[in-house]
Amino acid sequence: MRAIALRDFGGNDRLELTDVEDPKVGPDFVLIRVRGAGLNPVDWKVREGKHEGRFPHVFPVVLGWDAAGVVEEVGPAVTRFASGDEVFAYCRKHFVGEGTYAEYVSVPEDFVARKPETIDFVHAGAVPLAGLTAFQALVEATAVRSGETVLVHGAAGGVGGFAVQIARARGAQVIGTATSPKHEYLKELGTSEEIDYSEVDFVEAVRESRPGGVDVVFDLFGGETLWRSVEVVADGGRIVSLADPLTDDHYGQRGIRPAYVFVRPSGSQLAELARLVDGGELRVELEESYPLAEAAEALERLEGGRVRGKLALEVP
Ligand SMILES: NC(=O)c1ccc[n+]([C@@H]2O[C@H](COP(=O)([O-])OP(=O)(O)OC[C@H]3O[C@@H](n4cnc5c(N)ncnc54)[C@H](OP(=O)(O)O)[C@@H]3O)[C@@H](O)[C@H]2O)c1
Repeated sequence: MRAIALRDFGGNDRLELTDVEDPKVGPDFVLIRVRGAGLNPVDWKVREGKHEGRFPHVFPVVLGWDAAGVVEEVGPAVTRFASGDEVFAYCRKHFVGEGTYAEYVSVPEDFVARKPETIDFVHAGAVPLAGLTAFQALVEATAVRSGETVLVHGAAGGVGGFAVQIARARGAQVIGTATSPKHEYLKELGTSEEIDYSEVDFVEAVRESRPGGVDVVFDLFGGETLWRSVEVVADGGRIVSLADPLTDDHYGQRGIRPAYVFVRPSGSQLAELARLVDGGELRVELEESYPLAEAAEALERLEGGRVRGKLALEVP
């Protein structure tokens, strides 16, 4: 099959559109003919070798973790899918190498869900990793409830945009951080307050509007943003980070509960995200889509760190 693969770690010049072996289909695996593949910052980190210690890598490494497409074949133990089904999945295996920037990907049945009916493959392919991350942070890790206030850092990006909408769907008020040109976009997603973190101190801004603090902070970037977020959480509130694992020692005195999320594949949670999409509560904003052959240009754009919503590849 055709795929974008790396023969060694490095820059975008290492990406090659080439022929690689078709993925194998285990007994409980589904083989998906990929039509849309979302991009995530982890893709360029993998390209650079930054995840070498976390996962075994098998070269040639085909990049990509997100896919939407059509089931081509199923293993003999698969019970919930059949060839021809339109699906999407977060395609993480125990090694990095058989990714989704490719014509085909194989993935355990439990990681797969039916694609939302109201969006096309390219939009659906942009949902899994970022959508599951936001879901696991706000539904599992912090259990955001109606009437609470959530501060979402990086609200204009892939994960942040889903986080704003999932928090809203659960009845929370959302404060989002982004540079000013993206504030109208944040409002469309459902924020009730926007903070330009590059112009004002976000701690002062939150304290002014919410003197008692927010119930939940959703941190994507770690470091100073995360440490300073402690100052704006109400006593007994929660902070969830995608960047740095936290310990109770940091926050225990004020009853703050810290959480760290490293996203996991889940077909059942993807099905809930599909329901939100089809119910009009979760919109998938694609800043741009690129042909598979232009994966390097797409990754370069993502690496700039300024994308609004998501980027995705169209797989012919
Ligand atoms: N732990 C996990 O399992 C997990 C899962 C998914 C993602 N992540 C990590 O989470 C981070 C975000 O992922 P993503 O897919 O959302 O990335 P993304 O789509 O590339 O995020 C881009 C957005 O980030 C905003 N931004 C950049 N720096 C910011 C800052 N200091 N404060 C607030 N906003 C800022 C930008 O808005 P402006 O241009 O307005 O600044 C831009 O719209 C990445 O580092 C990724 O690796 C971790």
